Amino acid sequence: MSHPDHHHLAGVMGWPVMHSRSPLLHNYWLKQHHISGLYVPLPIAPQALGAALRAMPALGFRGCNLTIPHKVLALDIVDYIDPMAKRMGAANCIVVREDGSLAGFNHDGFGFIESLREAKPDWRADAGPIVVLGAGGAARAVVQSLVDRGTREIRLLNRTLARAQTLAQSLDGPVEVLDWDMRDAALDGAAMLVNTTSQGMSGQHELDISLQRLPAHAVVADIVYIPLETHLLQMARERGHLTVNGLGMLLHQARPAFHAWFGILPQVTPQLRALLEQSIREPH
Ligand code: ATR
Repeated sequence: MSHPDHHHLAGVMGWPVMHSRSPLLHNYWLKQHHISGLYVPLPIAPQALGAALRAMPALGFRGCNLTIPHKVLALDIVDYIDPMAKRMGAANCIVVREDGSLAGFNHDGFGFIESLREAKPDWRADAGPIVVLGAGGAARAVVQSLVDRGTREIRLLNRTLARAQTLAQSLDGPVEVLDWDMRDAALDGAAMLVNTTSQGMSGQHELDISLQRLPAHAVVADIVYIPLETHLLQMARERGHLTVNGLGMLLHQARPAFHAWFGILPQVTPQLRALLEQSIREPH
């Protein structure tokens, strides 16, 4: 349903949401592409999600992103779920279709893979075993996208073992679940280590791991982007590993969302990345 004034609206629903850098990102692209519109943060409590999503067509919204805690809840509300979102059990992007119905998508896995490719153009999913820490929603997107790209061995470790087992069982892929106490030893011979836990995020404890056994050529990725360099990434950089922070995942998952709402596939440029980095280093 397009707005008669041709003023396009989109936003991000979360609880909390005001920390989100998505408005900065999408409003930058709207301006760059001379599209009249606005992307706004929408603090929506979990019990209000249904009403908020259903209100979007009437309010002239093209759609929205979803962040914690709405990604899973939304699947029960929307009219159509894209196969990828279905497999991930979560949606991070809602599109209002011409007839006012709502479609749910998940671009988190795409964003993660694109961020790796940006950091290492010759990155290959099948270069060797990949160690993934964590078993929450973000881990699901990461593991699913790695399986889809042909990774032959994923070693999955989570503080709560049962959660990792549930994740592994729900995915059809070469995922081996190991006990959290094995995290140092699990790095033996690995081609990549990915942290999807909240550890290392600003306000949280640092991730407790030793990289001693990680081969020198291994890539170390952290989906955290506040701070830009977690203690894990600092340790990895000092050991000479190629490191990838979570900002690339945020930037790249936003591209297909913008395309779905506004019809243009925007690019991640060094200038845009610098703008986001500055806003993280110097919060308003
Ligand atoms: P998201 O959807 O962003 O992944 P989540 O579902 O809350 O968020 O998952 C957070 C992840 O961080 C989980 O893997 C969690 O482990 P548990 O499943 O055991 O809760 C992990 N995590 C949180 N606090 C942790 C800690 N102190 N040590 C290790 N892992 C932790």
